[in-house]
Amino acid sequence: MEKRLEVRQAQVAAFASERIEHYADRRRVFAALSEIALSGCGAEEIVPDEFSSGAVSQWQYVDYLRHVGGRRHEKIRGRVELLENYSVFAGAVDDLRAALDKYEDPEQHLAFLGKGSNSRVYAVDVGNTLYAIRIPKPERTDPGVIDGHIAAALLGRWAPHLEQIVAASYEQGVTVAEMVPGVDMGHISVDEIQCVQGRQIEDLIDTLQDTQERGINIDPKPSNVLYDLLEGYGIVDYQAPDDFAFQGVGETVASIASALGRAGLYGKQLDYEKRETYQYVQAVQLANLVVVQRYQAAARERLHSDDYEVAAGKIESILATIRAALQECGDPQAVETRIDRTKKLRESRMTSERRLVIRDGNVRTI
Ligand SMILES: Nc1ncnc2c1ncn2[C@@H]1O[C@H](COP(=O)(O)OP(=O)(O)O)[C@@H](O)[C@H]1O
Ligand SMILES: [Mg+2]
Repeated sequence: MEKRLEVRQAQVAAFASERIEHYADRRRVFAALSEIALSGCGAEEIVPDEFSSGAVSQWQYVDYLRHVGGRRHEKIRGRVELLENYSVFAGAVDDLRAALDKYEDPEQHLAFLGKGSNSRVYAVDVGNTLYAIRIPKPERTDPGVIDGHIAAALLGRWAPHLEQIVAASYEQGVTVAEMVPGVDMGHISVDEIQCVQGRQIEDLIDTLQDTQERGINIDPKPSNVLYDLLEGYGIVDYQAPDDFAFQGVGETVASIASALGRAGLYGKQLDYEKRETYQYVQAVQLANLVVVQRYQAAARERLHSDDYEVAAGKIESILATIRAALQECGDPQAVETRIDRTKKLRESRMTSERRLVIRDGNVRTI
C-alpha cells in the first residue's frame, strides 16, 4: 500500500473515532474507509457526501485535521505506525490464511492459540519472534471493530500485562500483537490456579487501575485473561470506550473477579451426569475460592475506598456462588440429586424432541 493511503486511512479513522458521536454515522465512515482513502480526491472531499449524513461533513473533517495538527497528532501518528508496520507481517498472514484454507476446522492448525466471538488467534514466527495474529471470523471484518482494537492499543501502549498490538490492517481485519504468555481462564488447570502468587494478584489489581487511568475498557470474559506461572496475569482483547459507558474501576475489578471465579470452568462442556465432574468442580472451585479471596484482600488494600465499595458487594456474591458450588459437590446426597435432575432433564428434552418430529409434512409425536 502506498504510504499516502495509510496516512489517509489513519486520518479518517482517527476523525471518525474521536469526532463522530453517533454509532451509525461512524459505522458508515468505517465501512467505506478504504474507498475513502483510495479515492484520489483532495482532502476536502475525503469524506464524500455519499458517506456523510449531514452529521458528518467534510468541513468538520478538515477542521479536525487543522485543529489536531494532522500527522503530528498522536492518534493519527499511532495509527499510521501500526498500518505501516503491517507490511512486515503481510506475507506471513497470507501464508497463514492459505494454510488455514486447507483445514476444514481452522482450529486444528498447530499454531492455533485461542478464539473469541470475533476472531481466531494464531502464533506466527516473523523474524525469529513469535507474534499473535488475530484473524477475524469471516462475518466479523468490520473496520470499525478493528479500529476499536487499534484505538485501545494506542491507549495501552507499553503498559505491562496488557496485550501490545504492533501492526494492523483495516482491509484484512487483522491485528498483530506481541505474545502474551500463559493460558486463559477457560483452559487453566487446577495445578496452575494453585500456583498463583499473592504478588501476581496484586499486580493484576494494579493493571486494572492502570487501564482506568488510560481510559481503557476491559472485556472481562475469562478467555481474555491469561495466566503464566512466571509473568502472572495478562489481559488481551481490550477496547477503547465506545458507545457503551466507560466502566469505573470498581466495576472492572468486580468483573475480573467473576472471570477468576469461573477459571477452569468457562466454556467447558461438563457432564453433570458423571460423579467425576463434581470432583473436578470441587477441586477447581476450591482453588478459585483461595484466589478470589486473596484478590478481594488485594482490592481492599489497593483501591480507593469508594471504588472498593462498588467492587466489594459483587465480589461477595461471586464468593457465595463458589461456596454454594463447593457445598453441593462436597455433599454426596446433593450430588446424587443433581445427577438425577440432570438425567431427567435430558430425558424430558429427548421426549419433547421426539414429539416434534415432522413426518409427511405433518408434525407428529412418536
Ligand atoms: N496477544 C496474545 N497472546 C497470546 N494469546 C492471545 C493473544 N491474543 C489473543 N490470544 C488468545 O486468543 C484468544 C482469542 O483472542 P481475542 O482477542 O480474545 O479474540 P476475540 O476478539 O474474538 O474475543 C484469547 O482467549 C487468547 O487465548
Ligand atoms: Mg476475547
